[in-house]
Amino acid sequence: MSRDLIEKIDRLRRERNAVILAHNYQIGEVQDIADYVGDSLGLSQQASQTGADVIVFCGVLFMAETAAILSPDKTVLLPEKTAGCPLADMITAEELAKLKSKHPDALVVSYVNSPAEVKAMSDYCCTSGNAVELVASLPQDREILFVPDQHLGRHVMNVTGREMLLWPGYCPTHAKMDPDEIKEALSRHPNAVVMAHPECNDSVKELADELLSTGQMLQFVQKSSAQCFIVATENGLIHTLKKQNPEREFIAVSDRTICPNMKKITLEKVAWSLEDMQYVIEVNEEIRTRSIAALNRMLDVLPKK
Ligand code: 13P
Repeated sequence: MSRDLIEKIDRLRRERNAVILAHNYQIGEVQDIADYVGDSLGLSQQASQTGADVIVFCGVLFMAETAAILSPDKTVLLPEKTAGCPLADMITAEELAKLKSKHPDALVVSYVNSPAEVKAMSDYCCTSGNAVELVASLPQDREILFVPDQHLGRHVMNVTGREMLLWPGYCPTHAKMDPDEIKEALSRHPNAVVMAHPECNDSVKELADELLSTGQMLQFVQKSSAQCFIVATENGLIHTLKKQNPEREFIAVSDRTICPNMKKITLEKVAWSLEDMQYVIEVNEEIRTRSIAALNRMLDVLPKK
């Protein structure tokens, strides 16, 4: 069954001149058939540079929207139209307009996990991979509004020493990380390195040796000599970690730390998506032209290696 499906996907991918992009949180089978698997920054870079006619985005809505903004001449497909991001939905354009009216001179930095309308009202976008570098490059005399992830924002404040006004959004999957479960895993694996995503809350981040985006976690493990890692992010990343490092051990914090939206895309849905050219993600032209500058500024800032 799976073999037939993969052959069908491969045939359709060739016929449509499509590229399949998958986020590190996708199920293993989907990651395995993708042309590129990566973090939000890497996926945006791929989407902006691809020569394909069709981008099948195996991720969540804000990621496909970002691809549609960056590549207006491509058809961007999201194989499951209900794959949203609750963190991105924690701020609306109306709410940001209200905040901006109280801080008219502030710069707005929006995490890429935000709706296109919010990006259109922002000066800069960032991902967890380059938020620190981006904020550090901003003029010292300007107030900064950082939306919508408070935990990433606090991490950036700690590293850069810049004060920012934080929107109180959070990722419900990272919020499920329990510090006691990390302590328990550490008691069983005292030499393990703890890697945590900046979207985790402070009680988890305090236990971490490294705070990294998903792409940075993959790079960090390649360079590290450690044998065992406790991985405080969505569990899908462990698929690629194991694939790239079969001799090392990776421990998820919990089997609850799974993003239900990321897991909605299956091989069947990827095949249907290519067959029926569904679901096309389009961004209104006015919103698109207003958000492209903030996204291009995001792509200009490379994370520290
Ligand atoms: P990364 O950019 O680290 O892949 O994070 C994406 C994300 O949405 C985390 O919840």
